[in-house]
Amino acid sequence: MALSFDFPDNPSFLGDDVIEGVWADPGFGQYFTDHMAVAKWSLEEGWHGGRLTDYAQVSMEPASAVYHYAQEIFEGLKAYRHSDGSVWLFRPEANAKRFENSARRLALPVLPAEDFVTSVRQLAALDARWVPGGAEQSLYLRPFMMAAENFLGVRPAQSVLYAVIASPVGSYFSGGVAPVDIWLSTQYSRVAPGGTGSAKCGGNYAASLLPQELAYQQGCSQVLFVDAAEKRWIEELGGMNLFMITADDELVTPELNGNILPGVTRDSLLTVAPELGLKPVERQVSLEEVTSGITSGAIRELFACGTAAVITPIRSLKSPDAEYVIDVDKATHTIPLCNHLLDIQYGRIADTHGWMQQVV
Ligand code: COI
Repeated sequence: MALSFDFPDNPSFLGDDVIEGVWADPGFGQYFTDHMAVAKWSLEEGWHGGRLTDYAQVSMEPASAVYHYAQEIFEGLKAYRHSDGSVWLFRPEANAKRFENSARRLALPVLPAEDFVTSVRQLAALDARWVPGGAEQSLYLRPFMMAAENFLGVRPAQSVLYAVIASPVGSYFSGGVAPVDIWLSTQYSRVAPGGTGSAKCGGNYAASLLPQELAYQQGCSQVLFVDAAEKRWIEELGGMNLFMITADDELVTPELNGNILPGVTRDSLLTVAPELGLKPVERQVSLEEVTSGITSGAIRELFACGTAAVITPIRSLKSPDAEYVIDVDKATHTIPLCNHLLDIQYGRIADTHGWMQQVV
């Protein structure tokens, strides 16, 4: 039976002054709304106990399996306020499908897509007054699932916690949508063939943190990973997919090979590309092709994309012995692509793909 996530009887709400204070400078993922959605799963009962409740600490015993074996997955999607005050989600079913796939890979129970979407919709509806209306602002929704069984044997947990929290956000990068520099990591890998690369699990992000630190030390905002086997093929950034635009107007991104997260923004950009005069191409891209293409001018633009980052232009790729710089002032496609997606999400142009779903 479907989970319900009904509104609580006596919800508590912070004052409007607190929310307006947050909206003035939300940053990314620093503030959280009044409520959260939760549900439980156990081997005996299956999914049960779906509800909305006050945002509060989650109490789990130290023996809870997630603390030891990192059996955890998550998602990220956004709710947008349109100019008439209504609130809309972007492609929640796509996130629900990916959450199902991530659960399978991490040996977690599959939460039916219908329950995922209901939980997200209900939380966004209850906390709709937190959805900011400023430029590039939105409510970032973070569904996640974790092993909650108190047991130290290494096997899939027999009890699990699912929750959704929500955070009013502005730009992911502190510099806004300004171009960023990227550090090339060939020393460290994010994932390996047969691993968890295409699942959205915390462990993949944990593996990216040390190389990400090294990137910060080099003045870079993100790290670019190549494949673990040959150290030859571009895969993705620490928390985003990578695209390049060629001199002959191809929008190229590494093909999904099991190591790359199938981004919803990635898929959306490939879909709208022809509307902006670009030919979408998914194929293997070598590091050599990127560096020599930047130098020769065959590659005109590079950008990072994801739900959190939307589209962020890349100014340079740096490695210990070289720097490859893009002339971002000559970029003609990245900003129109970004604006096209944002125009759909904020309801400024027609949603011809049926991607938007009204919440309130
Ligand atoms: C997203 O774009 O939603 C991400 O998950 C990236 C990062 C914040 C983990």
